[in-house]
Amino acid sequence: MQKILSKFGKIAPPTPRNIEAAARTLAEGGLVAIPTETVYGLAGNALDKYAVARIFEAKGRPFFNPLIIHVADLHTAKKLAEFSAEAEKLAAAYWPGPLTLVLKRKAGCPITLLATAGLDSIGLRVPAHRTALAVIREARLPLAAPSANSSGAISPTTARHVANDLGGKIDMILDGGACEIGVESTVLDVRARQPRILRPGAVTKEELERFLGARVGRAKGAKVESPGQLESHYAPKAKMRLNAKAKRKGEILIGFGKINGDFNLSETGNVVEAAANLYALLHAADAEHPGTIAVAPVPDKGLGAAINDRLRRAAG
Ligand code: TXA
Ligand code: MG
Repeated sequence: MQKILSKFGKIAPPTPRNIEAAARTLAEGGLVAIPTETVYGLAGNALDKYAVARIFEAKGRPFFNPLIIHVADLHTAKKLAEFSAEAEKLAAAYWPGPLTLVLKRKAGCPITLLATAGLDSIGLRVPAHRTALAVIREARLPLAAPSANSSGAISPTTARHVANDLGGKIDMILDGGACEIGVESTVLDVRARQPRILRPGAVTKEELERFLGARVGRAKGAKVESPGQLESHYAPKAKMRLNAKAKRKGEILIGFGKINGDFNLSETGNVVEAAANLYALLHAADAEHPGTIAVAPVPDKGLGAAINDRLRRAAG
């Protein structure tokens, strides 16, 4: 695992040979950043406590924060967790895709307890990205993969974001280009009768309610149930000012729609486009070392809810 390449030398295109190399690295306990449809993940073998410990170490992530386990399909997922009929219906409809289901761990589930922070639950998803799926299939392993950024920092949506932050600490970065969705998966706890969103994300509450024909809860408040809910998270180095209508002195303004700034999340006011641009623009604005990053208001509809959730935490 001592492949000490230059910082950017670790970025590799997702060729069959590199996917094989990634799978081998993972089987040996190494860490590989992989593109997904949401953000880049920092993958390690979820069966190997040392590999998982390296993930926590590389990110500086607190051990009480469980990792999402990425698998190839529902069939594999059912070997790891208890699925209710409703959970299975959701998985069948949304996988592969940006929905993480929090389920009860099955007795004898071989995922290392460190990955699930010692909880009797497990967060599972099947990513909708050909490179992520190719790596999972080639490795034949469940992969623990949190977002590939230092704990608390802005999530990565390009291979270069990963290299800038964690390049010195991981073995390889597979480059799948910019992530299509740009905000993390929705984390949905489906253990109780009423499903509850622990972290808003790419699959919206409205969409889930329509699909289930029932109300979906939303966990909020002081008690941290999903540390993606931690108050300060996704944070740039600069201060943040939200709901900014205009730029003030010493600020960089990230606009939205008709409020134009140094950058614009979406000139047409489209929240899907804004989600795809969010982290890249936060990275770009932060790189200018402004005193404050101001962000124009984003409507709270659809993906806007996930964007506003991340902006509030970034402002922490
Ligand atoms: O889109 C995504 O979900 C990305 C890509 C790489 O798949 N991954 C991601 O992982 O965002 P991470 O570790 O940054 O966020 C995982 C979230 C955290 O809020 C964590 O607390 C929650 O999922 N989570 C994971 N397992 C859980 C569990 N058993 N119970 C409650 N929350 C859980
Ligand atoms: Mg994260």
